[in-house]
Amino acid sequence: MLDKLTRWMQKNEESVSLDEFGIDRANVPRHVAIIMDGNGRWAKQRGLPRIAGHRSGMKTVKEITKAADEVRVEVLTLYAFSTENWKRPADEVDFLMRLPQEFLATELEELVERNVRVRMVGHENKLPSYTLAALQEAREKTLHNTGLILNFALNYGSRAEMLDAVQMISRDVKDGLVEEEQIDEKLFASYLATKDLPDPDLLIRTSGELRLSNFMLWQLAYSELWFSNVYWPDFTKHDFYEAIKEYQQRSRRYGALT
Ligand code: IPE
Ligand code: IPE
Ligand code: MG
Repeated sequence: MLDKLTRWMQKNEESVSLDEFGIDRANVPRHVAIIMDGNGRWAKQRGLPRIAGHRSGMKTVKEITKAADEVRVEVLTLYAFSTENWKRPADEVDFLMRLPQEFLATELEELVERNVRVRMVGHENKLPSYTLAALQEAREKTLHNTGLILNFALNYGSRAEMLDAVQMISRDVKDGLVEEEQIDEKLFASYLATKDLPDPDLLIRTSGELRLSNFMLWQLAYSELWFSNVYWPDFTKHDFYEAIKEYQQRSRRYGALT
């Protein structure tokens, strides 16, 4: 009972703070994508090994997932590991590959409770079996959830994704399933890993780097970009809401005049 009451009070506090923050609930981005960057520098700053930064970054993942859910974002995509990140030292890669398992072991229950649906984009073939198994379990247990989609980009690279699409389309043309003249933006997008997701409305990158690092190059064509100098482990709910607030001030024109 007390637990329920505390939760209710927390919920109410959260909604008050959202309104006080000046977020327009009618203009929340449907899809927010985040390049979670700066874990290594965060650790270095503290004289800690890089993996300490990754572990601490996991706490931010929890906090921002909650924040996105509270503000009623439909899709939150988190860039967790790129196709280029395999170039890092083996022990760091190994640590990163164990994080989904660790994260889901403690968080899956709450995600289920929050009606969150876990998904992923990226090549699954190169992932260790324990990483895949954890994600598979999360996907299955949340398959019918209808709330926030928490989409992990893991072993994801946008160029690889687009090349896959080109190969699949070529095959379908050869097999007579698609006519060459039918290849338009809509058809191309339907061959991407994000086929049933809206394009990101807002892209956030932390840590002060101003680049896309092979992330959703097609899908970000008209996204609003927001950069923060804060390292990912220090990124807060407050920063996230700040980004959304600024997004709400932007005028999205898509090349037109209004
Ligand atoms: C982001 O932090 C996490 C991943 C890329 C996996 P980094 O590990 O890139 O941290 P920095 O950029 O070296 O500080
Ligand atoms: C991008 O960050 C990938 C992820 C956040 C997972 P990186 O740290 O790998 O990007 P670069 O190397 O600075 O471009
Ligand atoms: Mg980095």
